Amino acid sequence: MREPERPAAPPPTGSEGAARSSPGGGEESEGAARRQAATGPTRRIVAIGGGKGGIGKSLIAVTLAIEMVRRGMRVVLVDCDLGGANLHSLLGMEYPKETLSDFVLRRVGSLAELVVPTPVAGLGLISGARNAIQVANPMYQQKMRLMRALKHLAADAAVLDLGAGTHFNVVDFFLLADNGVLVVVPEPTSVENAYRFLKAAFLRRVKAMDASLGIREILQEVVRPGGQRPLVPAEMVLAVAERDPAAGAALEREMAAFRPLLIVNQVREAADLTLGDGMCDAARRLFGVGLMYLGHLRHHEQVWRAVRAREPGYYERPGTPFALELSAVAGRLIELPALGASRS
Ligand SMILES: Nc1ncnc2c1ncn2[C@@H]1O[C@H](COP(=O)(O)OP(=O)(O)OP(=O)(O)O)[C@@H](O)[C@H]1O
Ligand SMILES: [Mg+2]
Repeated sequence: MREPERPAAPPPTGSEGAARSSPGGGEESEGAARRQAATGPTRRIVAIGGGKGGIGKSLIAVTLAIEMVRRGMRVVLVDCDLGGANLHSLLGMEYPKETLSDFVLRRVGSLAELVVPTPVAGLGLISGARNAIQVANPMYQQKMRLMRALKHLAADAAVLDLGAGTHFNVVDFFLLADNGVLVVVPEPTSVENAYRFLKAAFLRRVKAMDASLGIREILQEVVRPGGQRPLVPAEMVLAVAERDPAAGAALEREMAAFRPLLIVNQVREAADLTLGDGMCDAARRLFGVGLMYLGHLRHHEQVWRAVRAREPGYYERPGTPFALELSAVAGRLIELPALGASRS
């Protein structure tokens, strides 16, 4: 039997939901959050990735989590940028004493013990690893343990902020999520990195299921066709189907279930508004992947200034032009299905 579900993060206080409480939370409330820590499913896991660094992944993770709290959800923000944790900073907090390092290195037994309250009432934070060298690339067993634990945070949502790059240790957390969100800014390098990330995620997903689909050998043949350029994912599915139609159909079905999401951030010009739909078309053509466009956020000078000054007031406040755009994007995301209670 499952243990009764209790929130991993303190519930929102009052109708405001995401109102700021005393900065840092303090020792006493940290203790309270720990006492509330319990096992139970994480009803929705959202991961924010995108390949390129400095494009707004962490800002979006933080503000999306705040918006979810505002909508009455119990949310835990998890800093999975194992090499460059900075969510505490975006929330105007000091570096919490205990971080993911303590879980990865087995100094604490459960992830829920690491949830600390944030100045945003109702939002819990698991801070990123302190000792990047030890944990930036966790061993396979450590990663599996962490991934299992993320599914049991007893929260309505866990929002994972991923690091830059397309290393499989980043991609695996993207694939773990119910909703993997790709962030892109209207710049060629960011768009290239986003496609690279998508391709890495596709290949990783195929690799994870090749044994169960019985296509490992076929894949090895088609992925390394001597001397030719690498196949794009859509060609790969076709090549598998040519050798074994049933396996091809199974692969196609599995891949159709891969529905990454897209946010275009830091839009400055009208022309940037076509990027989202354009990328979704290209992803379908090249990768056979149903990338879904969630919407865009414009570049807001006040956001940038607030981040620089470590004063989160502006981007935490509801009703600003930034918050309204973010809320529209969050609304579309929340409507999408998640595994919810079926996750045991
Ligand atoms: N919509 C926006 N308007 C204005 N500034 C923004 C916006 N989105 C992000 N920024 C700014 O871009 C910078 C980088 O943001 P952030 O740290 O969230 O990026 P990141 O993708 O998480 O980077 P890294 O890969 O290094 O972790 C910050 O200074 C942030 O204020
Ligand atoms: Mg970041």
